[in-house]
Amino acid sequence: MSKMDTVGMPDQGLKNDPDWWRGAAIYQIYPRSFQDSNGDGIGDLSGIIHRLPYIADLGVDAIWISPFFRSPMLDFGYDVSDYRDVDPMFGTLDDFDALIERAHQLGVRVIIDLVLSHSSAQHPWFKESRASRDNAKSDWYVWADAKPDGSPPNNWLSIFGGSAWEWDGERMQYYLHNFLSEQPDLNFHNPEVQNELLDITRFWLERGVDGFRLDTVNFYVHDQQLRDNPPLPEEERNDNTAPSVNPYNFQDHLYDKTRPENLNFLRRFRALLDEYPGTTAVGEVGESQRGMEVQAAYTAGDDLLHMCYDFAFLANAYPTGGHVGDILERFNRIVTEGWACWAYSNHDVVRHATRWNMDEPRLRLYAALLMSLKGSVCLYQGEELGLTEAYVAYEDLQDPYGKRFWPKFKGRDGARTPFPWSRDNRNGGFSDEKPWLPVAMEHVQRAAQSQADDSGSMLQFYRDMLAFRKAHLPILKGDITLISADDTRLCFERRHQGARVFCAFNLSDTVQRIELPQGAWDIDRGAPFTFIETAEGTDLPPHQALYAIASDTPA
Ligand code: BGC
Ligand code: MG
Repeated sequence: MSKMDTVGMPDQGLKNDPDWWRGAAIYQIYPRSFQDSNGDGIGDLSGIIHRLPYIADLGVDAIWISPFFRSPMLDFGYDVSDYRDVDPMFGTLDDFDALIERAHQLGVRVIIDLVLSHSSAQHPWFKESRASRDNAKSDWYVWADAKPDGSPPNNWLSIFGGSAWEWDGERMQYYLHNFLSEQPDLNFHNPEVQNELLDITRFWLERGVDGFRLDTVNFYVHDQQLRDNPPLPEEERNDNTAPSVNPYNFQDHLYDKTRPENLNFLRRFRALLDEYPGTTAVGEVGESQRGMEVQAAYTAGDDLLHMCYDFAFLANAYPTGGHVGDILERFNRIVTEGWACWAYSNHDVVRHATRWNMDEPRLRLYAALLMSLKGSVCLYQGEELGLTEAYVAYEDLQDPYGKRFWPKFKGRDGARTPFPWSRDNRNGGFSDEKPWLPVAMEHVQRAAQSQADDSGSMLQFYRDMLAFRKAHLPILKGDITLISADDTRLCFERRHQGARVFCAFNLSDTVQRIELPQGAWDIDRGAPFTFIETAEGTDLPPHQALYAIASDTPA
């Protein structure tokens, strides 16, 4: 074990807190690109186990591991051919059990990524389903006859390009796929399908997982009448969930997804989770027009999802104070009963350092802002190192989405290149052999090992902020009241059971004078920022943040 594997190993084990997910910091691992342990150029579960101390030391509460199930890997694991097994490329079920055990010893919970909306076309269910119109699985997928002229049943589009319908010569019918044609859509109107998917969920609950990220949770159910989606006027289009080059944005997706019957399945899903106290579900809601409304519907009460994964900060729009304020205001107004889960980056979008073209001081300020919002947060592997989007040449491209819309949209590989662990190895310590995607040279400069012992590093900043967040209950669990949100500053108050924390962020290039709200406040010196106190008040230098604790209430 190198020094970095052992520094600050908490080894505190898991605390029994069924509400742990509320305010949790969740570290997303893209397993192909985290750590290779067997020299095949592809990350694996043993690699993750080896790096768990690094993750525990960062101070997060949980990891979310992108899919590691058996898969032909046409969408890199989001096309599952066996939901109850680990792909040999990633290891074995025993490796997974060992991963959970080690993570729990280190006080880190484990969330896995369930891809229930569609399977792989290589799944035995689909092979059976496509074989005839009257076999036992014939209704497990969404089959429909051609129109009299042979064209697809309706105008629905695949996110990955072209019609959402693929012709099958065996059945002489079309089947639905919202993503690749090799990712056929499961038919959630069939109760047998629901039962089987819940059984799979139980399989993983029994293995000790602490929760699920539900891939494309609002795509589960389609309109049984197969009605056409209406066109979306150009002025209403946005690139929140698909790049602007994608004609998927030209439709208002009323019928191919987000159908009301989905709530019945989500209730069944939640009832199952409730049999395993302390487990959680975060649903990925991909919806450009009504994202917050769908989140509200999916998280209302306590018999649906715990959280939804919000796309607001994954889009291209720069998070000016006004824009952030608008998102927070809309969330508070619309998602009244739900708990947010925010993220700036993931394996599907351009890394935010590049997407928002942020320099290091801004990256730190905005990381602090993310960790101070009301909600849980997902941090994507490498953002704690300040990684930018990697350039991946067309010849090296793996992502089918990128190949389809190249060059206007270069796909997702630039966010999926291998994690740089050290500077002294030709593949940045990721693998001894040629990695499945090239390691970015500029990432190696920012390798974890060289930041680990540097008190001024981005990595240390993330550790400090995560510890600071954890030390303040109002930041973890409290309500939020927006005080000001313009392009120079963002100020809000967080309150929890009488305790209050005031948070101020200087988003501008000039010093900002910060007025503390009415009452008695003590400036908290624990956060890794600087400020200047004068007789008249507090001056916040550019890109610095300030936290104050109300001294008239218990902190
Ligand atoms: C995942 C993507 C995947 C898609 C289809 C998502 O939103 O995050 O990586 O391609 O679902 O499963
Ligand atoms: Mg490997």
